[in-house]
Amino acid sequence: MANERGNVNVAVLGMGTVGQGVASLLLRQKDFWRERLGYELTLRRILEKYPDKTLDFDREGVPISADWRDVVDDPEVQIVVETMGGIEPAKTFILEALRRGKHVVTANKDLLALHGRELFAAASERGADLYFEASVAGAVPVLCALRQNLIAEPLTDVIGIVNGTTNYILTRMAAEGGEFGEILADAQKLGYAEFNPASDVEGIDAGRKAAILSMLSFNSQVTLDDVYVEGITGITREDIAFADQMGFAVKLLAVCREREGKIEARVHPALLPKGHPLAGVGDTFNAVLIKGESLGEVMLYGRGAGRFPTASAILGDVSEIARNIRFGCCGRLNQVFDRLKPVMPIDEIKTRFFLRLLLADRPGVLAQITKTLGKHEVSLDTVRQTDLKDGDAELVFITHIAREGDMRQALKEMGELEVTKEIITVLRVEGVA
Ligand code: NDP
Ligand code: HSE
Repeated sequence: MANERGNVNVAVLGMGTVGQGVASLLLRQKDFWRERLGYELTLRRILEKYPDKTLDFDREGVPISADWRDVVDDPEVQIVVETMGGIEPAKTFILEALRRGKHVVTANKDLLALHGRELFAAASERGADLYFEASVAGAVPVLCALRQNLIAEPLTDVIGIVNGTTNYILTRMAAEGGEFGEILADAQKLGYAEFNPASDVEGIDAGRKAAILSMLSFNSQVTLDDVYVEGITGITREDIAFADQMGFAVKLLAVCREREGKIEARVHPALLPKGHPLAGVGDTFNAVLIKGESLGEVMLYGRGAGRFPTASAILGDVSEIARNIRFGCCGRLNQVFDRLKPVMPIDEIKTRFFLRLLLADRPGVLAQITKTLGKHEVSLDTVRQTDLKDGDAELVFITHIAREGDMRQALKEMGELEVTKEIITVLRVEGVA
């Protein structure tokens, strides 16, 4: 229940980039909420591993503690916001908070992508709210759309740029041809990257988000382990430049689909035609394109990372729960996700491919390549010779739609041909009919 004055008390666990944003906005926007919601959201307690840590805002005497019990056992705390990240102790703190009848907001995709089902079940059992808008695409209200507005729609495709750090890196590599490492360091300084930025650049962060998106979109249990993941560490300036010359942008995509009861969940860099709605999404912006049987297409776009965009999403959740508390309707969005639709192995997916090959520059070479591809049902759409290097020719190909398993076999055999000097790059191409 809301307290006597109708105010709702909130605790924040973890004073890092996001937690400080949430706590400072809770203090700064009191009057705004009183006017908008009719009651206050009050910051009641803070948990931080090192309570002496210098904070970027004045906490106005709000108690700060390193002991989770001080926070979670406080009977006045109604909503616990978890912004610590990682699996443990975040999981225990959330479960303990739910056990004590608190509602929880978390931005923790690491945890949800592995243990979402257990956490959702715990919230459901208690009739508590567990909201997690900021866990996918930061300030972009995509989970709210999937959980509420689009709940009646049989969705077929949910395709997104859901990692701000990699989008920032790819955008700057395309615009200025900058060095990968330097740009990543800037993303870290700006607070976009994860504590371990390898999870951004290796696609794991986006993989976690793809698991959450798939779960909500297709109402089935999907974990990070089900998602095929490739990152952007192998992408070079040359790849981006060749793609650009051929009319494509390179993006790290999360592709979630349902076809005939099977789920496709994958994250990898891909070429997108420049006219595709996701191709122009740059910097740390995220966007998710959703397709449904009756809906057609909807695209949501906005800031996917950073202190205040993320805090804004969290506070949207807090306000929604506060409203649920006020009207006695908590738990109304809870889903249990106990269905298990099969997830397609990567070999079964069908897409186009972009290949950069270094080949001996002599007659008949192209015929050998097309013969090998043809043997595995892969046909070519576009071929471009780009350069000659010490008697070898660099060729860029775009294929028609092919089965990934067939493409892999063809690549293996092409790699064994005497004329193949190097398979430089293999990328998937999305968004072309
Ligand atoms: P940070 O690492 O900046 O912050 C985490 C904070 O939690 C740190 O202050 C850390 O303390 C504290 N903490 C960790 N463990 C404990 C503990 N056991 N007890 C108390 N405090 C603890 O992470 P972010 O703020 O960037 O991210 C927080 C969460 O939000 C993560 O789940 C992340 O994936 C998610 N997220 C982040 C976004 C972003 O743009 N940064 C966007 C969307 C989601 P210390 O530093 O002293 O260890
Ligand atoms: N590291 C993440 C990103 C934070 O770059 O998108 C937002 O989830």
